[in-house]
Amino acid sequence: MMIKKILVLVVIFSFFACSKSLSEKEKQEYTAKGKEIAQASFNALSSELTKQMKLGGPKQAIPFCNVQAMPITNQLSETHNVSIKRTTDKLRNAANKPTVRELELIHRYKNSEEMQHAPVVEKDDNNKIHFYAPIIIKDKCLVCHGKLGEELNVKTDSIIKTLYPNDIAIGYSEGDLRGIWSIEFEKNKIWQK
Ligand code: HEC
Repeated sequence: MMIKKILVLVVIFSFFACSKSLSEKEKQEYTAKGKEIAQASFNALSSELTKQMKLGGPKQAIPFCNVQAMPITNQLSETHNVSIKRTTDKLRNAANKPTVRELELIHRYKNSEEMQHAPVVEKDDNNKIHFYAPIIIKDKCLVCHGKLGEELNVKTDSIIKTLYPNDIAIGYSEGDLRGIWSIEFEKNKIWQK
């Protein structure tokens, strides 16, 4: 009798466990969509940043990021019907604080050889689908995220620190993991193409 009950429980449990996982096809589609949105967000932020740097250097580009980085990603979130976040284990803006899961993945990207830089797509306990992909430091990021006294000069750092007194997003080298894109799909559906 007891064994029967346990068996029934096991069957019920595995049914729920299965319904939670994504099929290979879904994974591929969400990965492609996530990559596309992360790339579009990167392009939008990066082109504005380059423009502001040309216009007035870090003195102009930093306040621009301060005011515009969030609205730009929020606008893109609306357009794509997702929520787009950039997060990290070394924060500049506290509003970008990672969740437990995000922090776990950042550590995995940093420490696991096998994970490389491949995106992760998964369903959470509330059936929401998430896309995560690494953000890597490039040469042009170093003026604002590099080593103090080297690529990041003291003057630029002091402008950053007036806006972000608790900033620890410095000391990076090219190729380092800066953080991750974290995209939550709102509607849980694959887009009509
Ligand atoms: C002109 C200075 C500047 C440059 C260049 C710059 N950033 Fe930033 N970065 C900032 C500022 C300012 C913020 C805070 C933005 C905000 O308030 O949302 C920021 C925030 C971030 C965040 C969000 C996480 C956090 O700590 O708040 C990431 C990720 C990031 N930058 C990555 C990059 C990458 C990658 C590059 C190069 C492609 C780059 N940044 C170039 C100034 C800069």
